Amino acid sequence: MITEPDNGLPQVPAARTCPFSPPREYALLREAGPVTQVALPGDKHAWAVTTLAAVRELLTRPDISSNPQHPNFPEPFPDVEAEEAPDDAENAAAAEEEPDEEGGGEPLPQLIEMDPPLHTVYRRMLIPELTVKRVKELRPGIQQLVDGLIDDMLAKGPTADLVSAYSLAIPSAVICQLLGISNDSHHFFQTRTETVVSRAATSAEKLTAYMELYSFLDVTVTAKETEPTDDILGRLVTKYFRTGELSHEMLVSTAVLLLLAGHETTANTISLGVLAFLQYPEQLQALREDPAAAVNSPDEMVRFQSLGDVDISRTATADFDFQGTQIKNGDGLLPIISVANRDPEAFDHPDELDIRREDTRHHVGFGYGPHQCLGQNLARVELEIAYRTLFERIPGLRLAVPLDEIRFKNDSQIFGVHSMPVTW
Ligand code: HEM
Repeated sequence: MITEPDNGLPQVPAARTCPFSPPREYALLREAGPVTQVALPGDKHAWAVTTLAAVRELLTRPDISSNPQHPNFPEPFPDVEAEEAPDDAENAAAAEEEPDEEGGGEPLPQLIEMDPPLHTVYRRMLIPELTVKRVKELRPGIQQLVDGLIDDMLAKGPTADLVSAYSLAIPSAVICQLLGISNDSHHFFQTRTETVVSRAATSAEKLTAYMELYSFLDVTVTAKETEPTDDILGRLVTKYFRTGELSHEMLVSTAVLLLLAGHETTANTISLGVLAFLQYPEQLQALREDPAAAVNSPDEMVRFQSLGDVDISRTATADFDFQGTQIKNGDGLLPIISVANRDPEAFDHPDELDIRREDTRHHVGFGYGPHQCLGQNLARVELEIAYRTLFERIPGLRLAVPLDEIRFKNDSQIFGVHSMPVTW
């Protein structure tokens, strides 16, 4: 629950008590909002922005920055230092390890951490790869992949861990195929990705996991620079690396971002979405009977769940008046997308899951403005095929354990489930 530290400000982050809903305290911030000051770990504070209109307005302002190096950049989940890490000998040992020499040193800023005009230059290179049209061409391949995973589950069943057998396997295989890298290393990608977004991992563990991914992709990208292949990385080599517009390091960094950005987000939205369909049978019926609702279901699940409660941070780069609050140059800004997506001014019955609703599409679960999710078209197709096909092919799917035995990811920046035993 939100506690009030010495400075009297509400504390962020708070924990979810319902797996599908943001912490109740964030809704209270919205009622007091749209702009309220909150306390962050480490005696820091930021302006929480909580209504849909205010979040959209803020994220399109030119005088905000995504650069995490700024001293006031809001960090709701600051890195855990080694001595605070969970009491686990293996973790502690890993925390002390230096990153691989091969890929050592400070990682380059990611696209997601850049500001215009540089951000615009790099973002433009990726846009053609993830358009609606491009993603439509991928549909048959994604359908085939999902059918194959269900065949495997049925062959090994009648029980499975939905997370490893299905939810994580889908985004993992899809992004590997798009990048043109072998999916044989999916376990390596998944474990490293999970560490990077973990709240429990130390800064050294996170850096090690990141640099391991970086080193892996460094080798892949180097090979593609000599012999470009017909995939995102190969095309970036031909179009921008060979012209000198994209450096080797930036190319590797972009590959790491694409691998990271779509993994935990998509996988947890699949798992929690399946759980939500099991909890709300009338929604499952709509998914089965109404093709338009099935197409709408990914956006409604993203709106309803908003798994990255406080995942977007910015700092102000000028003084400005925002919704009646004086913001100073350098102030931390925290648009809380999960409560903006439950804003009663913007959505009818906002706290209800309704895959038939018509007002879903203007949610901000994929962000908004210049950094709006580049993978959203892909995520929509993955989620739609994942939900629809699972319940079509395994109509009797149900949880294999009581709901209160599911282990939720309160220890991650991206909420979700660690494992989800299902049966049929
Ligand atoms: C349900 C799935 C997903 C959710 C909820 C999600 C959410 C988000 C959000 C909220 C942002 C904005 C961050 C900010 O403004 O600071 C973002 C950015 C981004 N996402 Fe996603 N994402 C998902 C899937 C994906 C996938 C599948 C990919 C890749 C294939 C991807 C690639 C990216 C990239 C590259 C950015 C950075 C864009 C930029 O900075 O210009 N995402 N995502």
